[in-house]
Amino acid sequence: MEYKKASAFFNSHYTVGETDPRIFGSFIEHLGRAVYTGIYEPGHPAADENGFRKDVIQLIRELNVPIVRYPGGNFVSAFRWEDSVGPKEDRPRRTELAWRTIETNQFGLNEFMDWCRKAGTEPMMAVNLGTRGIDDARNLVEYCNHPGGAYYSDLRATHGHKDPHNIKIWCLGNEMDGPWQTGHKTPEEYGRIAVEAAKVMKWVDPSIELVASGSSNLNMPTFGTWESTVLDHTYNLVDYMSMHQYYGNAAGDTPDFMANTVAMDDFISGVISICDAVKAKKHSKKTINISFDEWNVWYHSNEQDSKLAPWTIAPHQLEDIYNLEDAVLVGSMLITLLRHADRVKIACLAQLVNVIAPIMTEEGGRVLKQTIYYPYLYTSLYGRGTVLEGITESPKYDSTNFTDVPMLDCTAVACPDSTISVFAVNRSVDTPLLFTPQLTEFGNLRPVSWTSIEGPDKNAVNTFDHPDTVAPQSHAVKSDDSEFLLAPLSWNMIRFEP
Ligand code: AHR
Repeated sequence: MEYKKASAFFNSHYTVGETDPRIFGSFIEHLGRAVYTGIYEPGHPAADENGFRKDVIQLIRELNVPIVRYPGGNFVSAFRWEDSVGPKEDRPRRTELAWRTIETNQFGLNEFMDWCRKAGTEPMMAVNLGTRGIDDARNLVEYCNHPGGAYYSDLRATHGHKDPHNIKIWCLGNEMDGPWQTGHKTPEEYGRIAVEAAKVMKWVDPSIELVASGSSNLNMPTFGTWESTVLDHTYNLVDYMSMHQYYGNAAGDTPDFMANTVAMDDFISGVISICDAVKAKKHSKKTINISFDEWNVWYHSNEQDSKLAPWTIAPHQLEDIYNLEDAVLVGSMLITLLRHADRVKIACLAQLVNVIAPIMTEEGGRVLKQTIYYPYLYTSLYGRGTVLEGITESPKYDSTNFTDVPMLDCTAVACPDSTISVFAVNRSVDTPLLFTPQLTEFGNLRPVSWTSIEGPDKNAVNTFDHPDTVAPQSHAVKSDDSEFLLAPLSWNMIRFEP
């Protein structure tokens, strides 16, 4: 097959910033089987004494997920947190409006905190600013973080948790710009409730950090106005602006699908510009960073189908089965997040188990690594360090909605142990790229490993019976190798050592 050449130039003195490990976060919502028969399944052979599936925890530990957003998502906007604490037999079953299910509340706030400890992760808690507001937000912070001697902190102690949970990161609602959201708001309405909730939450615990809810995606009609209006109200009290974005290939147009990360890159730059414009307008010394707290590929499942049989417990909702090209795009989305390491401080792959997720479970049965598991795994393990500013030279292509799309998508991370990880995606569907990564002023470096996700069938998937159809491939490297032939539609990690 005829190849084209591409290069990336990195210099030890030109850096973007340190990777905040929280960009490898994820998300568990009370949706479908994320919680019930996902992370929590009493009676499962692998369940521990709390009903937490140890087989799932093992994979989450392998991924080294530093932070998990909870409990929603759209779910949070009608959630009564009090329903989910206290003796399980007293917890009410509720109609769950966002996903039209029955919520049993058998797994709630304290179970989530216990689960986080076992999974080796930290919580990122969202408050309901849809049906509820200031009072409930401050009560929830008191319940979680106040040491004791007041009503809600003492209630927590009676629920078996004398010590405060000390939850550090809090989301002020979820996708409040979306008409689908329970309690959808205009930018003004949201800005007002967000600032007042933020104020009392920080009065209860000044050490917390807050995420303002941003646009649900780049195409929202209020995009831009939403962010600037919300920040006009909340700038002094919030620490992060959230971003959400999912991509899909419903049209079967892979070149266009692979180009989506060009738009993602622009989206991040755009939101940063808006944050900084408000900063300038306010003569503020404070910088608002980005929490990209929902991102993934999402299109294989049909949301409407799951709504045809409403009011069941833990139905099979949004169980996208990911293929090879999805894994390559997820790898490219991770590269995009790394390239903005100076401002993107939190990011959550949405979601973690069963619902648009890298990990799937069978009820009572096995656990499966989906294709997207692998780029997430390797970037989480080897993408922590100093992100290097790169200059790439790459052939380009045009697609249905994009022009001049570089075939090579690339970044590099200098890790604390003096190794360097180069992450590279070949977006082209048919052209191999002979890739030369040039790492200057690092001393003598030699390539030690090259791992890729690639294959002959872009639609290949992993199933419980054939779990390794799409699995990482290890390529032999010689210490004097300087060029690497990247397969069409492939994700690659090449590691260098001194
Ligand atoms: O992650 C699935 C859903 O996508 C979330 O509930 C919502 O916030 C977003 O629209």
